[in-house]
Amino acid sequence: MKTLLKSNNCGELNAKNIGEEVTLSGWVSCVRDLGGIIFLELRDRSGFFQLVADPQINPDIHAVFSKLKTESVITVKGKVTKRPDETYNEKLATGEVESYPNYVNVLTEAETLPFVLDDENVSEDIRLKYRYLDLRRAPMLHNLTLRHKVVTAMREYLNGQDFLEVETPILNKTTPEGARDYLVPSRVQEGKFYALPQSPQIFKQLLMVGGIERYYQIAKCFRDEDLRADRQPEFTQVDLEMSFVNQDEVITMVEGLVQSAFKAAGVDVQLPLKRITWQEAMDRFGSDKPDTRFGLELFNVTDIMEASTFQAFKDVIAAGGTVRAIKIPGIAGYSRKEMDDVRNLAISFGAKGLAWITYMESGEVKSPVLKFLSEDQIKEIQNRADAQNGDIVFFVADKPKVVYDVLGRFRLYFGKKLNMINEDDHALLWVVNFPMFEWSDEEGRYMAMHHPFTSPNLEDMDKLRNGDLGHVNSIAYDIVYNGTELGGGSVRIHTPEVQKEVFKALGLDDATVQEKFGFMVNAFRYGTPPHAGLAIGLDRLIALLCRTDSIRDVIAFPKNSGAKCLMSDAPGEASLQQLRELHLKSTVKPK
Ligand code: AMO
Ligand code: AMP
Repeated sequence: MKTLLKSNNCGELNAKNIGEEVTLSGWVSCVRDLGGIIFLELRDRSGFFQLVADPQINPDIHAVFSKLKTESVITVKGKVTKRPDETYNEKLATGEVESYPNYVNVLTEAETLPFVLDDENVSEDIRLKYRYLDLRRAPMLHNLTLRHKVVTAMREYLNGQDFLEVETPILNKTTPEGARDYLVPSRVQEGKFYALPQSPQIFKQLLMVGGIERYYQIAKCFRDEDLRADRQPEFTQVDLEMSFVNQDEVITMVEGLVQSAFKAAGVDVQLPLKRITWQEAMDRFGSDKPDTRFGLELFNVTDIMEASTFQAFKDVIAAGGTVRAIKIPGIAGYSRKEMDDVRNLAISFGAKGLAWITYMESGEVKSPVLKFLSEDQIKEIQNRADAQNGDIVFFVADKPKVVYDVLGRFRLYFGKKLNMINEDDHALLWVVNFPMFEWSDEEGRYMAMHHPFTSPNLEDMDKLRNGDLGHVNSIAYDIVYNGTELGGGSVRIHTPEVQKEVFKALGLDDATVQEKFGFMVNAFRYGTPPHAGLAIGLDRLIALLCRTDSIRDVIAFPKNSGAKCLMSDAPGEASLQQLRELHLKSTVKPK
């Protein structure tokens, strides 16, 4: 970063530079007056460099340094010298050298900062309000640097595989990901609204119709949903689409991409990655994004409970439900209060109740449901659980969705609590063969699990036509890393006939289809290649590689959980004049 104000970067000076005249510019990180001699740490993006002002040698410089406030920006000139042995600092990359500058210019003076930069206990709200100061801290610089390296590696990989990077519009119509849209009112077209893209899904498919064959984009996406640590209203996808490929070919391509991303972060990934079906993921881990760094797998006891005399469970099974269990090792000594807490936890996760069998250290078996089970049944449960003395087996009976969810969350809770997760592991895998549809209690109908352009498994076409939607699988795949969904994609429908069947199954009539996706359906009439693709959540990937829990830590200017930017105070109010121009009336009184 050489300029007239910088001949060198602060953090790159070392013994090799001794004797050189340098011009350095940066922020005053700290100033210490030790017995009249002032030591100043100058910081730029590359690191720190020590400047010394001795009143005997250079009173002018000393006078300026003595008045400097930290975080002011200065330029100095001077010769690089070797530090006296006793001040050698091996912790600092530049710890062998220093300079007694003969010139200093204060470019801007800083006021006292609202927080101390290296104070680790500053609240996130303050950090977000003064994000430009927060970015001066080493962890933020590290995260943004890693993000840049990973994106560069991914771009290079895709460029090397004949992908074209193409931009798609931000102002457009609603897209099919199923979250709430951000709308932008049109001034010119009265009463009409653009929707910000939830993903470039439709456009990337149209790029395939347009003959691009291999597309990618580092794409901004917008979703108005409830925010969590791994969700932002605007986030970034590494989005790609390919023509003339099948599922295996996309998966292989993405594996290479992910390998190159991890390599840029210093992690070796062995390929090919494991694949498990959605059903297996649910049965074993109770989740479609299983954290496979530890065991505690679920198992099915529906058959045993059906043959038992426990009416509550038998009723659930008769109504189409399931009974599943999980063994938690070594907690048979839990107190009554601890067991109450565990039960309440299960209920907070959505269970109607929690049953268990405790295999005491003494060999005794205790359980609130013991009287409903024969000795053989208890043995069989112990066998399936591989339970030893000291373990507890927990049971949940309900609709499959509830049972999976409760036990899946139970598994994660105990995995963490019992320290079963090795934080240094990298568990990457594919979940494949997703159901095509998902029943929505809220909407009272089947919804697309991925999006409505995802291809059903072709052998399930009859079930689709016959309305047996619960048993139609799709050619969709997710890539999962340490229990987080990193990315998802699918083979797309490329024939109008199949697309029609799927829209019909989703209850979308022709008029709605035309209104929402008409331009896409029409485009598919003019020669459409088979195509497939996927999008990786870049913020999530970087957060995981940086080992931070929150994607806010890897985004320069994120929003808080109320979708607000604490720095700029966005969203802001609009003037009546602006609203009028946009043909809008606000129901909220202006302040
Ligand atoms: P999907 O909706 O699964 O697929 O999104 C792909 C990936 O984007 C990330 N992601 C998010 N990251 C941060 N904040 C959010 N609010 C958020 N929402 C999603 C996740 C997710 O795996 N068009 C399809 C892809 C395709 O079919 O090719 C799509 O958007 O890591
Ligand atoms: P009850 O006979 O209703 O008192 O239930 C006996 C035990 O089974 C209690 O520990 C309940 O919490 C538990 N239980 C009841 N319903 C369920 C359910 N749907 N899933 C798991 N456990 C249940």
